[in-house]
Amino acid sequence: MPGLAASSTTSPGGEAVIEVRNLTKRFGDTTALHEASLTVQAGEIIVLLGLSGSGKSTLLRHLDGLELPTDGAVRVLGHEVPALRGRALRALRGRVGFVFQQFELVGPLTVLENVLTGALFRIRGPRLGLWSYSGGHKLTALAHLDRVGLLAQAYQRADTLSGGQQQRVAIARALMQNPSILLADEPVASLDPESSSQIMALIKDIARDSGLTVVCSLHQVDLALGWADRIVGLRHGEVVLDTPTAGISKAQVMEIYGRVATTTAELGAIATELTAPVSPEPVPAPAASSWTESRDAALDPRTSASARDNRR
Ligand SMILES: Nc1ncnc2c1ncn2[C@@H]1O[C@H](COP(=O)(O)OP(=O)(O)OP(=O)(O)O)[C@@H](O)[C@H]1O
Ligand SMILES: [Mg+2]
Repeated sequence: MPGLAASSTTSPGGEAVIEVRNLTKRFGDTTALHEASLTVQAGEIIVLLGLSGSGKSTLLRHLDGLELPTDGAVRVLGHEVPALRGRALRALRGRVGFVFQQFELVGPLTVLENVLTGALFRIRGPRLGLWSYSGGHKLTALAHLDRVGLLAQAYQRADTLSGGQQQRVAIARALMQNPSILLADEPVASLDPESSSQIMALIKDIARDSGLTVVCSLHQVDLALGWADRIVGLRHGEVVLDTPTAGISKAQVMEIYGRVATTTAELGAIATELTAPVSPEPVPAPAASSWTESRDAALDPRTSASARDNRR
């Protein structure tokens, strides 16, 4: 697998915190990504746009080491991600917050406990209950809850919150890591339009305040254009669009997708899916015992047998 020279990590626009070069990922006969390249500078807010199955989640998961490339290079915060193991991988993941469509909260735990699990990347050993976290961690968690407007709900069970509130908790949990990069995989796909725009605005405000770099996958062109600095369009695992949002119209974006569409069915899917409003959908809270456990173990290709089979 080719590496990226350290000298290629900077550009006149700033420091490149994410560099993906010619990334190909195959799952058996399915090519999820095909020679995809992407460079993200510190502080940029990027949307990955594309139809279902275009490779958005797969690309995001490579940035956090949750997938291993079939070919190509992935460099994040100066590290060749596929080469990282053990403590070095955990350290990188501690600097990369991840927000998911389904929130992935632990339903029976309080909001505060859920946020505190975000600190588990930095502290050793299991933590059972509020008492096992330091006062400093609790104060930090409460400050993050205040930032996302949920201080009053700190001691409420997470599964009693609305979808929008649960996503706020997930954002506070990601902030608990004090991340440099925030990855968000369709963070508003399960929310109604009003909650969606509130969550997107919150992510952007926090990112601007803290100088966070954000890479967020979305389906909706309108939302992406109004929110991101830059959009990167994927189609069948290939990057077919990479443009600043300033000065580009929805019609131009759709025109590019229209140009690369190869079938009438695909054109129809583009028209309906990329321009559809976000649809509400009830979301059950998962019963996972620990979010970091599920992220580190269940999702980790380095510890899962099926994923090991995918490695070259
Ligand atoms: N673990 C896996 N095993 C097999 N195939 C996979 C796996 N993960 C992704 N794929 C396939 O790779 C392709 C890209 O999937 P991916 O989830 O990245 O798309 P996406 O753009 O995130 O779609 P969506 O908008 O529906 O979330 C799809 O064809 C998908 O079925
Ligand atoms: Mg996806």
